[in-house]
This record gives sequence, C-alpha cells and structure tokens, in this order.
Amino acid sequence: MTAGLRATRAYLAARPDADIDWAAAPPRYKRYPPAGRSVLPWNSGSDPLAGLLRDLMGLRPRWSYPVALTGTARQERPLVDVGRPVPSGGGLHPVELYVCTGPGSGRAAGLYHYDPAHHCLDLVRPGDHRAAMSGLLDAPPAVLPDLVVACTAVFWRNGFKYRDFAYNLQCQETGALAAQFLAIAKALDRRASVHVIFRDREVNALLGVEPAAEGALALLTLGTDTAARIEDLPTAADLTATPAAAPLDASPAVPTTLPHLTRLHTTAARPTRVRDHVPRYPGAAAGGPRVPLPDARPVRLADGVAGRASPLAGYRRDPVDADALAAVLAHAARGYRGDLPGAYAAPVAVDPHVVVDRVRGLAPGAYRYDADRNSLVQVGDASAIALVRNGPVHENTGLGLATAAAVVVPVGDPLDADRGLGDRWYRVLQIETGLVVHRAALAAAACDLGARIHSDGANRATDAAIGLTDRPERSLSFLLLGHERRGPRLPAPPPQRRELP
Ligand SMILES: Cc1cc2nc3c(=O)[nH]c(=O)nc-3n(C[C@H](O)[C@H](O)[C@H](O)COP(=O)(O)O)c2cc1C
Repeated sequence: MTAGLRATRAYLAARPDADIDWAAAPPRYKRYPPAGRSVLPWNSGSDPLAGLLRDLMGLRPRWSYPVALTGTARQERPLVDVGRPVPSGGGLHPVELYVCTGPGSGRAAGLYHYDPAHHCLDLVRPGDHRAAMSGLLDAPPAVLPDLVVACTAVFWRNGFKYRDFAYNLQCQETGALAAQFLAIAKALDRRASVHVIFRDREVNALLGVEPAAEGALALLTLGTDTAARIEDLPTAADLTATPAAAPLDASPAVPTTLPHLTRLHTTAARPTRVRDHVPRYPGAAAGGPRVPLPDARPVRLADGVAGRASPLAGYRRDPVDADALAAVLAHAARGYRGDLPGAYAAPVAVDPHVVVDRVRGLAPGAYRYDADRNSLVQVGDASAIALVRNGPVHENTGLGLATAAAVVVPVGDPLDADRGLGDRWYRVLQIETGLVVHRAALAAAACDLGARIHSDGANRATDAAIGLTDRPERSLSFLLLGHERRGPRLPAPPPQRRELP
C-alpha cells in the first residue's frame, strides 16, 4: 500500500538540474568561536571521547602512489590526501556532530560541536544537556547515557553539488556514522544505540541550529551513567535560557534552492511515534535455488576502521573468498540497538542482496542474503552481471563495475506507507541503508578487501538484475567489492590500529 507519502513521491520524482558553481562551494566543516574550546589529544589514552571522535570524523592523511582509473600506475610522485574515517558522497561530509557531555568526560558538562579540522570540541552551550536531549527521543533511555551525540546535516554543504539528491546522501551518511559509532563502541565494550525518532523541532532548537539550513537526523547514545539521575539534570527550558553560541560561518537556508529536500525534511519532522511503526515480519519472499555459504570469516568491524578507504582504481581479477563475502553479508544484516522495533534482531527496512561475479565456490548471479540460514537465495542468473554493467552509470562506476568481484545491494521500499511513519519513512530507510552498507564496507576492510559505494549503481537496471522489476522494493545503494587495485601504500600505519582493543 503506497497511499500518502506525497512529499516522498515529489522528492523521488524531482530531477533538479542546475550547473554546479564550484566557485561558490561552501566550507566543508562548521566552526564555532574558540571560547570554551576543549582541545583533544590525538591519542586517546587519557580521553576516550577524543579517540571516539577521531575514529568517527577526525582527519587522517593517506599516502599512496597514484594509479589511473584503469589501474595502471602513473609515474608521478606519491600522493598525500586528507580523508576521514567514514565515507561521504563526493567527499563533502555534510554531517556535523554535536556532543552532550556530563561531568565525567574530563571537561565541563556541556553541548559541544566537534571540529574535525582542529580535532577539538567547541562549547555551544554550557550545562549538562544529556537528560534534556535524550528526553526528546521518542524512546528515551531509562538510565541516563554517558554521552548523547546528535548528527545533523548541513543541507547546502553537498546540496550545492547534488541538489535535492543531497538529502539521500545526508541520510545514508548519518547511517554510516551510526554504523561506525556502533562498531567502535562494541570494541570498547560500551552500550550504544541509534535513535531516529525524536522531536525534531525541539532537538534543533536545543542544538541552536537554523532549521532552514541544518537539521538533526539521528541521535546516538553511548554508555550508561548511573551516578546521575535524569530528574536532577537541567531541562531543555532551563538550558535554552542561555542562547547557543553562533557559528562563525552561517550556512545558507535552502527552502528556495533545495525545495524538494526542504519539503521532505520538514514533512518528515512532524511528530511521529515509534510505537506507530509497524515492524516488518519476514515473509516467504520468492527466489530460486538456495546456496549455502561457508562460516563467515571471524572479523570485527572495528578492525576495518583504520584501513577503510574507497578504492580509486577498481579491483584485481583474483576472486574473493566465500567466507569473506559471508562475513560482509553477516555484518551487514546484523541487528543493532536502536529505537525501531525489531532492529535488535535485524535491520527493519533493508535486505542485503548481492550480485556475484567472482567469488570462490559461488556461481555468478544475483542473490538475496538469508542471514538466518547463512545462505543465498538465487534471484537472478549470470546475466544479472551484464544487466548491472549496462546500467546508466558514470564512467568511474563503469570502470569499477568492470573489475569488481561482487556488489552488495541493500534493498527496501521507499514508498512503504504501511510502516506508519509517513514521510519520515524515507529518512529512516536511508539511514538504515547507510548503516547496513557501511557495515559491509567495514567488514570488507577487516577482510582486507576494498569496497566503494557508487550511488548511481542503485538504478532500474540493478533492480531488474535482482528481480525487482515488478516489485515495490528498490536498490538503495551499491557497494562494489573486490581486491583493491592500487599502487603500493607508503608505510604510515594509522595510530587507530594499535589503539582499538
Ligand atoms: C552515501 C555515499 C554515496 C557515495 N556515492 C558515490 C558515487 O556515486 N560514486 C563514487 O565514485 N563514490 C561514491 N561514494 C564514495 C565517496 O566518493 C568517498 O567516500 C569519498 O570520496 C571519500 O573517500 P573515502 O571513502 O576513501 O574516505 C559515496 C559515498 C557515500 C558515503
């Protein structure tokens, strides 16, 4: 049933087309005045929050010898690039992090903004915001978290390039950050959860962001603080009596430049309750023969954090081991702690599929992953590969596709009105898509495989290849996988590898 969802329909139908004015590209991170700055150590020994933020968003150098898109080495000097731990469409990083700390974090309790360029926290407003912020969740935690992290999107940051499609990326990148947060928390043996249903207007007001330019998409919580009682901490009304610090560079409001994004975001912001969300019960989805997978290679997602980077020049011809693919799919399909009913068991919105070209022991074809039985259900034969390769993709995606060993494709229904979340469903679906696909990328990195998202691969040709032509579900992302083809990496072991336990 797909009645309603008018803002989602209008968003999906929009094909905004405008020249990109690169000269007017906005700054790639937000800055606040340095009064109240808390400079973070790069090595997190004495300050676990510093390590968490560095592994979520801290800038990191990458050294490599340049390789052409076609994989041939270029006779040029080594390249030094500054990247971030979590991928971002076009490297524009539209998501900002705001951290609510309590007195135990080694700095004054407050609402801080993380500045990745300077690896520091800037005070946005003093006072312990954890109870007020988590009180705006639709499913607030019973015990106060140690930390509440708000992820917001600065709409114009990537909107100047991608126009309204920027919202899709902003939601998926929020999901990717959530996946990384969960992976790091697990390695630190901390409880973490992802909240996507909250009172938007109040959250944005508490953060002090201009809602026409920036909006919260997810709230992440870490740990439990049994030393403080929620009822003893300041309320949102107490806190907002002090105005939030104003950022140094105001982000432009986007209602006229990104009208479909604005409409979808604001419609989705109408109060929604988690208990209205109708969980999906797995049905007997159609499919062909079932193919068992070997036991997944035992890797931790945190082991992929240090080495993950999107391959620049495609993949080598040697096939991928089936136990590595099993690990990628198992991690992608694993449940997570969050506010959506059912998510603890498995993702609630998205089903991972895979198009296989060269995986040892598996016939080329398209498959739906069945996590419960660690097996693949065939949904397309070997012609699926040609179908996907002939899809309408950009040159670099085509070159990557020509050499990738497999493609992981999360699938879900953007117009599923039966879930009861109205136009917020699109946001929830895309956040979970980003979470699932980034878990796959981290697992791939932990297996020493390369993986790169190519959004343009999520198209009708891919839908046809995985048997969705007459179904409401769609391919939502597209993660190429294989042994990365690259020039020698210069030895620069990142400190994270030594630090995560
Ligand atoms: C949501 C999302 C969509 C992306 N879409 C594409 C894409 O369509 N084509 C592409 O080549 N890379 C795509 N990427 C990869 C980014 O270009 C890459 O993450 C960015 O350049 C930063 O590099 P890194 O991943 O090595 O840190 C995407 C990444 C994300 C998170």
